[in-house]
Amino acid sequence: MTIEVRLADVSRSIRKKKCYRKTSSKTKRFPPYAAAISFPLQSLYMSCMDVFKGVGTVPSPTDVQKLCSILDGMMAEDVGLSRNLQFFKTRSVVGVTSKVACTTIYQSEKFSLCIFFLPANAVIPLHNHPGMTVFSKLLLGKVHIKAYDLITSNNSDDSTSPSQFKLASLKADGVFTAPCDTSVLYPTSGGNIHAFTAITPCAILDVMGPPYSKKDGRDCSYYRDIPFDTLPYEREVMTGEKSEQYRWLEEIEVPKESEMEGIEYMGPQIIEMSSSKMIR
Ligand SMILES: [Fe+2]
Repeated sequence: MTIEVRLADVSRSIRKKKCYRKTSSKTKRFPPYAAAISFPLQSLYMSCMDVFKGVGTVPSPTDVQKLCSILDGMMAEDVGLSRNLQFFKTRSVVGVTSKVACTTIYQSEKFSLCIFFLPANAVIPLHNHPGMTVFSKLLLGKVHIKAYDLITSNNSDDSTSPSQFKLASLKADGVFTAPCDTSVLYPTSGGNIHAFTAITPCAILDVMGPPYSKKDGRDCSYYRDIPFDTLPYEREVMTGEKSEQYRWLEEIEVPKESEMEGIEYMGPQIIEMSSSKMIR
């Protein structure tokens, strides 16, 4: 089965689920549109409206906790997915790397809600999120996540390191299996660089505030990580610390594996609200 067929299966199944929910509204226990609403998803949207203030702002620790607590409780079904979809049952084929797909649930200038579908063995290469706060919630499957914080050296002598290499500290390097807690990347701590490698087919819900915007200088850059001992620079930064936690990150051309297929979101819809109408 090709990746296109499996993704079509995801889209069709979401569409079927939506239609089923509309049909079930004939019970008239709720307004006709209510059956198509996911209350956890609507709650996430409304909290994002409250939390993301726009470019240059970072959610407060309280707001981060608020979004994490909503995301931690979210299930695949809240965005119209199910582990019974053929996509999530498909086994990996040795030596075959399949393309990642992405669907956008909602996007504004302040934040976006997207789902990434990774077939087994698929990779989202090491990439950054300039000026963005990113919440990643694994909805289904098993994925390896690697995340780095960039190190800002106190050494003002820039001649000690080549400009194309950035020193980074490894913050996450492990396998996550759904259901699991939300992971967060912050723009101010240097920790907005990560990579995903699917061990089984998986779906990841990303909340990004603000979203990528090339025209506003928030384009995505890609990196490769290099063992720290490969380059003899900035060893003084490591004084008293374990060098094995550190890597050099080198920016690379957009890798072929970063190509994604866009698919239409057909899950439960969001009722858009202006911030002035939000219930506090
Ligand atoms: Fe990312």
